[in-house]
Amino acid sequence: MTNEKHLSHKQSRPFQPTKLSKPRNFVIPEILTNKQKSSPPIVIEIGAGKGMHALSFAKQNPDKHLIAIERTRNKFEAFSKIADTQQLANLTPVHADAIAWIVQAIAPNSISQIYLLYPNPEQHNPNQQWLNMPFFEFLLSRLQTGGKIVLATNIEQYMANAQEQAGTLWCLPNTRAEVPANSQRTHFEIKYLARKETCWQLTMVKPKGYQTRFDTWQVS
Ligand SMILES: C[S@@+](CC[C@H](N)C(=O)[O-])C[C@H]1O[C@@H](n2cnc3c(N)ncnc32)[C@H](O)[C@@H]1O
Repeated sequence: MTNEKHLSHKQSRPFQPTKLSKPRNFVIPEILTNKQKSSPPIVIEIGAGKGMHALSFAKQNPDKHLIAIERTRNKFEAFSKIADTQQLANLTPVHADAIAWIVQAIAPNSISQIYLLYPNPEQHNPNQQWLNMPFFEFLLSRLQTGGKIVLATNIEQYMANAQEQAGTLWCLPNTRAEVPANSQRTHFEIKYLARKETCWQLTMVKPKGYQTRFDTWQVS
């Protein structure tokens, strides 16, 4: 593990990857075992729901490979049914809890972009917000230098906290923008914008030389 003095962020409580067990029926997707230099940039979506964004992203970005993770069975089944009919070679739908799955499957410094679209946790439980979790440090360790994390929400307080945490706790350059009213990336986005709610997006970038405790950590 990296010497704590050299950490690029201010999160004191470390995430404990060894405490998580392997997800049931865990298999590493072929795209992650491909050691060839020509393998495409890997993008991860956490909480993909019924896969609306995942399917359109994969179609629009044939040069990238998207791993889209959803833990709720009925949503994942709806997603995987459509994914099966569309047979997109650059899309891997995964039915799992993203935290346990990423710990098992993803190597450090290997992901070019991560999407967290409308996570909407229970509002009274701030511990469930992604940027409040010790796991966020682990997630940053999986991202390549210059890699981006894109978070969208319709909850103003969630966005305000996320932006504060991105800057002061995680020390990440970030930009906040309003999602255009005609955007249609996900089912939740369509629903909120149809109700004339404002949706926001926070884009965070991993700077060069960013150090976490997990930069060389991998399951043995
Ligand atoms: C409010 S829904 C949004 C779904 C989709 N992104 C959209 O915008 O339509 C949040 C989704 O995240 C999933 N989710 C939450 N935490 C997760 C985790 N740790 N791993 C995988 N999926 C998760 C939930 O099951 C749920 O389907």
